[in-house]
Amino acid sequence: MPWNPEQYHKFQSERSAPFYDLLKLVLIRPNLKAVDLGCGTGELTRILADALPESNVTGLDSSLQMLNKAASYSSPNLKFEQGDLSALTGSWDLIFSNAAIQWSEDHENLIPQIFSTLNPVGQLCVQIPSNHHHISHLLIRETAKEAPFNKILNNFERIAPVLSIDQYAKILFDQNAKDIIVFEKIYPHVLENSDAVVEWISGTALVPYFERLGEHKTEFVAVLQTKMKKALPESPLLYPFRRILFSAKKQ
Ligand SMILES: C[S@@+](CC[C@H](N)C(=O)[O-])C[C@H]1O[C@@H](n2cnc3c(N)ncnc32)[C@H](O)[C@@H]1O
Repeated sequence: MPWNPEQYHKFQSERSAPFYDLLKLVLIRPNLKAVDLGCGTGELTRILADALPESNVTGLDSSLQMLNKAASYSSPNLKFEQGDLSALTGSWDLIFSNAAIQWSEDHENLIPQIFSTLNPVGQLCVQIPSNHHHISHLLIRETAKEAPFNKILNNFERIAPVLSIDQYAKILFDQNAKDIIVFEKIYPHVLENSDAVVEWISGTALVPYFERLGEHKTEFVAVLQTKMKKALPESPLLYPFRRILFSAKKQ
């Protein structure tokens, strides 16, 4: 998918709050071999690496656009690599992932597969947006189903693969995971108006649609903005962003 680092950074402080909540779940120990799955532009991976004394951290991402930005954060204890998180191999003391796993399907198999690459003393820490029931996401899918976009998109629709907190807890339990923590939290972002919500989702949920819309992207955004204004006329506007955080240890 063609990620746009500039667009993604427009709400950087709001997007980094859950990263710090996830970092609080990490058991800080020296000499960890750690990986940040879907590291994006790397500044948060740098903060993770700085928090782990004498550790070796790999930032893994599939997007060259994001990795090009990340390169400037590399150091002797932090390197960046292109790769697919759903094909993770190796053996890790810490697998960390902030706002990335939602782009891979089939979490019932993906989470066990990722968990299986932990060392005996390893820990998995994941944050996944669970905002897919918000009206903005429903209106994206509604607009995508309407003419002329349904034809342009070839009836493409992205259904979030994100599960419930109960399901993540059960998946971890079934892996014999220890010290399981799973919770969902609302990050109450206050935005200027509904256009700002469209701006926000232009850096994330709309990315797979933009990839397929080509020159019709602006038209799609205009229709979405009109619907959003009708649905969320307030200014300022509360954008209650839901996210799932979980952590578990191998032993
Ligand atoms: C929303 S960004 C999050 C970036 C960073 N973790 C942060 O918190 O700012 C999602 C990132 O996941 C990456 N990504 C999506 N699917 C991936 C995959 N299958 N393997 C590796 N990276 C992936 C994207 O390229 C993008 O950089």
